[in-house]
Amino acid sequence: MERLQKVIAESGYTSRRKAEALIVEGKVKVNGKVITELGTKVSEKDIIEVENTVLTKEEKEYYLINKPRGVITTTDDDKNRKIVTELIPTNARIYPVGRLDYDTTGVLLLTNDGEFANILTQPKSKVDKVYLAKLEGIIKGDQINKLKAGVLLDHVKVVPSRVKLKKVNAEANTCYVEIIIHEGKNHQVKRMFESVGMKVEKLTRQRFGIFNAEGLKSGEYRKLTPKEVASVYSLKK
Ligand code: URA
Repeated sequence: MERLQKVIAESGYTSRRKAEALIVEGKVKVNGKVITELGTKVSEKDIIEVENTVLTKEEKEYYLINKPRGVITTTDDDKNRKIVTELIPTNARIYPVGRLDYDTTGVLLLTNDGEFANILTQPKSKVDKVYLAKLEGIIKGDQINKLKAGVLLDHVKVVPSRVKLKKVNAEANTCYVEIIIHEGKNHQVKRMFESVGMKVEKLTRQRFGIFNAEGLKSGEYRKLTPKEVASVYSLKK
């Protein structure tokens, strides 16, 4: 017997956290009966429906894409914008592991393996997210120090594990700063810079845990190797 949210996540339907939300919202049925209790245990024989779709088992797929600008990372969009899953031709119900903004580029993983996604996105895994931010204006030492000391986002202090000024372009009045964070709050990097008075003009994720976009042009993708998948599972606590 397994917990309902775990079974939903492992089917590839969605992440474990989203599965929990769907259960609480009354969108999950087991053998035709709505279940809103999170701890409910189910077996192989139970028929599980999520949002009126019966769960089926799917082969696990894992991709890394070098996300281009102008693509969203949710799985549907009311504004008819391009969706990142459309860039990968597969019938599997893959979805992004965490989010990148519409205008953010760089490393993004996609999978239909809810447990894999969960390992990488849960805060306790402390996965490095390395970003290179191009800023409007030139950041000063005291602004960098403020960031390093930690800033408040949603009433929670976030402390980056690294902030480093990489390049200054005095003529264009811009600079590039590398920042490494472990959380995945909405617009986190942009809001962190904003909180010290700087605006992010461009943002690229250069690394996510062990993954980088080496060898992939903008919009190109590759499958993860079994060794890469195993090394993510080795982070499981
Ligand atoms: N932080 C942001 O502000 N945007 C992203 O896309 C990722 C991290």
